[in-house]
Amino acid sequence: MTMQAFHLYLDSADLADLQTCLPHPAIHGVTTNPTLLRRAGITRATLPKLLHTCLKLGARQVQAQVHASDTDGILADARTLLAEFNPGQLVVKIPATRDGLRAGAELSTAGVPVTYTAVYAAEQAHFAAQLGAAYAAPYLGRLEDSGVDGLALIEQMQWLIANSGATTRLLVASVRSRAAYLSLLDLGVGSITIPPKLFTELFDHTATLDAERGFLADAAALG
Ligand code: E4P
Repeated sequence: MTMQAFHLYLDSADLADLQTCLPHPAIHGVTTNPTLLRRAGITRATLPKLLHTCLKLGARQVQAQVHASDTDGILADARTLLAEFNPGQLVVKIPATRDGLRAGAELSTAGVPVTYTAVYAAEQAHFAAQLGAAYAAPYLGRLEDSGVDGLALIEQMQWLIANSGATTRLLVASVRSRAAYLSLLDLGVGSITIPPKLFTELFDHTATLDAERGFLADAAALG
């Protein structure tokens, strides 16, 4: 089994927050959903502009969710969004419902990268792989909020996906701490999306910054 490159995403629709992290070569892209858009005051009309700004800031892929729940509505909505981007730039996020899987399968067959989101059960991750999705997104923090052992469930999803022969990656969302991030790396998940706040925690280690300050002081003293 060959290891796929790991994809790290930023989970935010707030441009000011995104700009504190981007551009950065470790970031593969930006994920959004209607809740994040609402929080950031982004409308459906201004969404393409935000996503294009993310691409200009170095995101290789951006993800936006459909606003419909029936198969035909999801397909129409996805095609409207896709029309604004080059092939492969926009990943269409679709909740992993019966209709969502039907619409997503059609998009995947046409070569469109799809993320099935709100994945709460192992078999949904397996369906995502079976139907050729790019990503399946379980929510670690929310699983644990509901009393489920989120890491154990995600481990099972990862096993199913890794043994499916598909190139589908888990894209774990609702990741709220450095400890959770490291546990997910231990499980070998292919992708994680993090809020900008966690980006700071992961990339700005106090001890490293302290050491750098010491080196800079000594470098200055060298003249
Ligand atoms: C996922 O799409 C959500 O944006 C996010 O990961 C949820 O995180 P939270 O459960 O910490 O709010």
